[in-house]
Amino acid sequence: MDGTYIANAWFALALVFIVTVAAKVLGSRTPAVEKTTKKLPPPPPEAKAAPLIGVLPAVLSRGLQAVIREQHRELGSVFTLKSLGVAVTFLVGPECSDHFFHGAESEMAIDDVYKFTTPIFGKGVGYDVDLDTRTEQHRFFAKTLRPAKLRGHEYFGKWGECGVVDLKQEMDHMLMLIASRCLLGKEVRENMFDEVSSLLGELLGNTYLVSIFLPYLPTPAHRRRDRARERLHEIFSQIVRARKSSGRVEDDFLQELMDSRYGDGRATTDAEVTGLLMALLLGGQHTSSSTAVWTLVCLLTHPDHLHAVVAEQEQLVVGRHHGSDVAFIDYGLLLQMDVLHRCIKETLRLHPVMSVILRHARTGFTVRTKEGNEYSVPAGRLVASPLVVNNQLPDLYKNPHLFDPDRFAAGRAEAAGNLDYLAFGAGKHACMGEGYAYQQIKVILSHMLRNFDFKLESLFPEPENMLSMRPRGKLTVSYKRRAWLRNMQE
Ligand code: HEM
Repeated sequence: MDGTYIANAWFALALVFIVTVAAKVLGSRTPAVEKTTKKLPPPPPEAKAAPLIGVLPAVLSRGLQAVIREQHRELGSVFTLKSLGVAVTFLVGPECSDHFFHGAESEMAIDDVYKFTTPIFGKGVGYDVDLDTRTEQHRFFAKTLRPAKLRGHEYFGKWGECGVVDLKQEMDHMLMLIASRCLLGKEVRENMFDEVSSLLGELLGNTYLVSIFLPYLPTPAHRRRDRARERLHEIFSQIVRARKSSGRVEDDFLQELMDSRYGDGRATTDAEVTGLLMALLLGGQHTSSSTAVWTLVCLLTHPDHLHAVVAEQEQLVVGRHHGSDVAFIDYGLLLQMDVLHRCIKETLRLHPVMSVILRHARTGFTVRTKEGNEYSVPAGRLVASPLVVNNQLPDLYKNPHLFDPDRFAAGRAEAAGNLDYLAFGAGKHACMGEGYAYQQIKVILSHMLRNFDFKLESLFPEPENMLSMRPRGKLTVSYKRRAWLRNMQE
């Protein structure tokens, strides 16, 4: 039995334990099922498994993804996996996903499954508030995540001519620098970048799987998480107060949040400003970092596509700037990076940031599969959209397991339906930061690929665990500054 297996076993046991508790908690919030005389379709088919432990042994030995795929093949597009009294119904494919993504919040609730974010972002923001308030807060995001706010930055000077780096660590750092430039404000950038970075690291690093379902469990990790949030709140409140009292106005996201108003004219409070800032940072940093890492890894293992991306960079950026590697990358230029864009999109299809997204069905609903079978899913059920499977369906994607960015090129345009590609979710809770994420990843990869040749030193990574698809472990690449660029400049 190797270490990975043991880690997976513990992970799955923890998962089952917390899902059990969560199901009980969610169940207690489920409205009473109305009695109806109408005959309902049958419930979704269930995976065959031992009575109490259910699919646990299969998940432990083959992994959650493999089990979902097997049951999809065996039982069709709608099926239920059970373990220790907890049932999760999986919906596979666009035909079955409409209610999941477009159902009313009172029927298909996202709040119930994301409540764990409250001790991270703080009270009064995100999933701690009602949908109307949250929608208004998201409107503040939409206003501020404008493309023009992004700029490239100097980072690679310290890299020298050649070397070996931990790619995940470098990406995290670069994204934090972009955030400090675009979102956090000059006070943080100039005086407390290291402290704020490490506090954000504490906030995420002390959020474990158990935190998702039992966010207030009094563990040492949760106490560290809470202390980090309190200190961040203190830092940002001081900055907000200092700006207000001096009348100083900055051109950054923090200022935009301070100046935002709800529909009834109410200004955002200091606590809301801090919470929203943290929500955005935590929702956007790890996701973008993971995607940037996977994209580079996919390119380094697919030389044809790597060459196509580099050729596009040479033509668009270097050609235009006469070989200078300090090219100014503006928004217009980022939009023209079509080959790079497709490579990021295709990477996310194969390596979405989370393997499944969940909802809590507050009311029962009926779902009809592509084959015409109808099932009724009961109120109180946890419902899952498995992104890893949905993004690799053979009737939507040709050779779905291959890395083939050209599937999104004009002319081929696979998966054109609005529920066919789900890396950023869909419907009313679709990702608000998609455009921003593409831009920051492009800014970083464009600079790296124009200036360096890379070689993957580690093996192709596995995903971190069953839910988070971030690459697991340390990921080293070696780099060499590109000679042709130096020659052009001489
Ligand atoms: C490659 C990077 C990213 C990926 C793959 C990604 C993916 C996702 C996914 C799958 C969801 C839907 C979750 C669900 O339905 O349960 C989501 C929601 C969200 N994302 Fe992203 N995200 C990324 C970057 C960002 C960034 C950079 C921001 C902001 C700076 C952001 C802000 C949000 C917000 C606010 C929501 C919640 C929308 C709601 O609940 O209505 N994301 N993201």
